[in-house]
Amino acid sequence: MIKNTISPEAARRFYDRLGAGHDRAEMYESRAKQVGLERLALSPGLRLLNVGVGTGKEHRLLVDGVGPTGLPAGIDLSPVMLRLTRDRTAAPLCQADARRLPFRSGAFDRLFSAYVLDLIPLDDLPGLLAEMRRVLRPGGRLVLVSLTEGVNLPSRAIVGLWKLLYAASPVACGGCRPVQLAGLVRQAGFQQVSREVVVQLAVPSEVITAEHPA
Ligand SMILES: C[S@@+](CC[C@H](N)C(=O)[O-])C[C@H]1O[C@@H](n2cnc3c(N)ncnc32)[C@H](O)[C@@H]1O
Repeated sequence: MIKNTISPEAARRFYDRLGAGHDRAEMYESRAKQVGLERLALSPGLRLLNVGVGTGKEHRLLVDGVGPTGLPAGIDLSPVMLRLTRDRTAAPLCQADARRLPFRSGAFDRLFSAYVLDLIPLDDLPGLLAEMRRVLRPGGRLVLVSLTEGVNLPSRAIVGLWKLLYAASPVACGGCRPVQLAGLVRQAGFQQVSREVVVQLAVPSEVITAEHPA
């Protein structure tokens, strides 16, 4: 796995500039996120945290999934992304770094994060996953969607090109590089870790589903 990515400041600047333009990534991300949303198995009244809400497309669905009695909280580093999500939902949102979640331990039943851990440096991932485990209640569920390694000829070719571009300019890729997180999620103490790969327009994404030990 590529070890280093862009700094949090560079990520905030990139996503502030990109703003609503990020919705174009739906053409290769939407199917994996749909699988991730299904794996959350939402029901009314659940307390959910979405780490890195982006423009708020999924957050609308998460708000509907937990209903008026649930808690659909979200965080993002980028003030512009938070404003776009506020335009789409009335959910409780705050500006925060995924590495330091400003919530009490055991505050959530579900934690969802799409295309965020793939822009976190490798050395920061164990601490970030420990934070995610801390804010989930025992028995709670984690779902992570990320860019991953290719699984067939077209997706391996795309990932090869992506890595070449990444080597030249990580910022041009929004800091995102392919990751494989199942091992790190297990090492963070999660159980029943499963991994599915979804390929859309030859871009491979992994959906990791895991349970906080009860
Ligand atoms: C590739 S976008 C994904 C957005 C959304 N989850 C989606 O799937 O459309 C990455 C998002 O994570 C946010 N982000 C990047 N690094 C972050 C960090 N360390 N903590 C919180 N949010 C972060 C960015 O501002 C951006 O909104």
